[in-house]
Amino acid sequence: MRILFIGDVVGRPGRQAVEERLQGLRAELGVDFCVLNGENAADGVGITPKLADRLLAAGADVITLGNHTWRRGEIGPYLAASDSIVRPANLSTSAPGAGLVVRSAGNGVDVAVLNLLGSLYLEPARSMWEIVDELVEDARRATPVVVVDVHAEATSEKVALSHWLDGRVTAVLGTHTHVQTSDARVSAKGTAAITDVGMTGPHDSVIGVESELAIRRMRTGMPVRFETAQGGVRIEGAVVDCDAEGRATAIEPLRRPFP
Ligand code: FE2
Repeated sequence: MRILFIGDVVGRPGRQAVEERLQGLRAELGVDFCVLNGENAADGVGITPKLADRLLAAGADVITLGNHTWRRGEIGPYLAASDSIVRPANLSTSAPGAGLVVRSAGNGVDVAVLNLLGSLYLEPARSMWEIVDELVEDARRATPVVVVDVHAEATSEKVALSHWLDGRVTAVLGTHTHVQTSDARVSAKGTAAITDVGMTGPHDSVIGVESELAIRRMRTGMPVRFETAQGGVRIEGAVVDCDAEGRATAIEPLRRPFP
């Protein structure tokens, strides 16, 4: 079974790459199931119902989110109603949506997708460590194929989670930093991991933002309105292979220029 994870889709350039290339990538790589992080889809921050629909129509089976989940308030009712999108499980229990969904892949195998938010800079309502074990048990009761999107700033939190969940989930895939790391690995117990899968969007930028604007804000400390950059678009992510018991057998980082 082959799972494709598409890293943080940023703004129009990222969406355009997904809409034009994802179906082709699925066919070329023989993908059974596709997870896509969409928390930067709407102009770099958040996602709207319309954009979520478009990303699902483009070939994503499940969309994951992150710290920008609530930037577009209209996504709340959509999260409450859809079983194809997850928000971090450790946001407030009063908020709409779920942090775990189970969906059937094209080959008939059920895949559980779990979304968690790290603590450093991101201030989740609860630490992911307080809820992760119960969520993984819930997921494994439904299916042995479990994919975790850990949306976090700190490499240490993501690496630690991959060790904590070793042998209990199929993959622990990091998102949020928009910089792909070169540590893709499969443990002896069959858990694939990478600290960050990277960004689907304009890499001629400061992690998606027009470089001049990001640098001006850093240099001056003054408020500067960010705009999504346009150049150097790449699709980034990871391809995970696993067996029927949900044990990962391989992981390969994905990096494709667009167009
Ligand atoms: Fe993020």
